[in-house]
Amino acid sequence: MVRTTVSKILEMFGHHVKTAVDGKGVLNQVDDSFDVIILDINMPDKDGFETMHELNELQYDIPVLFLTGAGSMDYAVKAINLGAYDFLTKPIEDLDIFNVKIRRAIEKRMYVLQERQYKAALEDDIQLKANQLEEQNKLLLTYSNSLEKATVQLMSSLQNAMEEKDYYTAGHTMRVTEYALMLATAMGLSDSEILVLRRAAQFHDIGKLVIDLSCIQKPGKLTEEEWILIRKHPSVGANIIQPLGFMEREQFIIRHHHERMDGTGYPAGLTGDQLDDLTKILIVVDSYDAMTSKRNYRKNMTRQEAVEELYRCSRSQFDPEIVEYFARSIVDFTPTEKVFTREYLDNVYLNNRK
Ligand SMILES: [Fe+2]
Repeated sequence: MVRTTVSKILEMFGHHVKTAVDGKGVLNQVDDSFDVIILDINMPDKDGFETMHELNELQYDIPVLFLTGAGSMDYAVKAINLGAYDFLTKPIEDLDIFNVKIRRAIEKRMYVLQERQYKAALEDDIQLKANQLEEQNKLLLTYSNSLEKATVQLMSSLQNAMEEKDYYTAGHTMRVTEYALMLATAMGLSDSEILVLRRAAQFHDIGKLVIDLSCIQKPGKLTEEEWILIRKHPSVGANIIQPLGFMEREQFIIRHHHERMDGTGYPAGLTGDQLDDLTKILIVVDSYDAMTSKRNYRKNMTRQEAVEELYRCSRSQFDPEIVEYFARSIVDFTPTEKVFTREYLDNVYLNNRK
């Protein structure tokens, strides 16, 4: 009877009302479309407090008003602790006050819904901005990659132009790069290391671009002055690519590709422990190609002689482990050369160990 009366009063004030006989009925009906819930405390099965507890777990954030005949202070405190919006006692004596309380609860509900909407919109906005930022980053990355690619291509063209000027070194860069990649793969280096090595190999002699090479194209031996000039090319090369910024490791390798393990190389006289594997690889393959290709001032070595020379100069000039890797990869690389059988290399290796 009380339920029906309260329902009628609320309808009279213009509200839409749904009723339930007990807590279970409330929990079955409730959804986000309700603005206010009015609960009694003494109900069959679930009492008002249990019902409120379960409502809290559903997280609809609908204001709950307790309307009860059990109007003790204990109950009021318990209701407030559970997060109840208000605590009213039966019978309702002043209908206007009752209506004001209901309206306030509805206003609170409106406020909660607005806040929820605002939060959702804010989250959407943040997500949108994050997506836009990610897109922009991707674009920037693509842009910088293509810029990097264009720079490398431009430098390759310069390199090729340089090599065309010098008949004797033509093909040297390409072969050195191939040997370097072959060796790096055999040594199991990572893709990023291989990329650095590849660029360093591609541009290791770029310093010769700005050095007058006419001297090395004449027949006969080079003079001391000519050697001094040629020895400048690693530093000059490293300086050429320095402004590019993204090739810092390549700069080091290019600058030091004529160093020796014993520290008697140039330009800085670094020793083996100051050189990284990539530089040591370039030193070996560059020397190997220099030995096996023709120069005006000397006859070229056979591959066999060159490998023997690499072994002979292990420790003093070359890293022994890298020489070993290289010699074995050369066997796989040029399987048709009979002198490069594995047995042959084992012998050379053992002889050098003695
Ligand atoms: Fe060089």
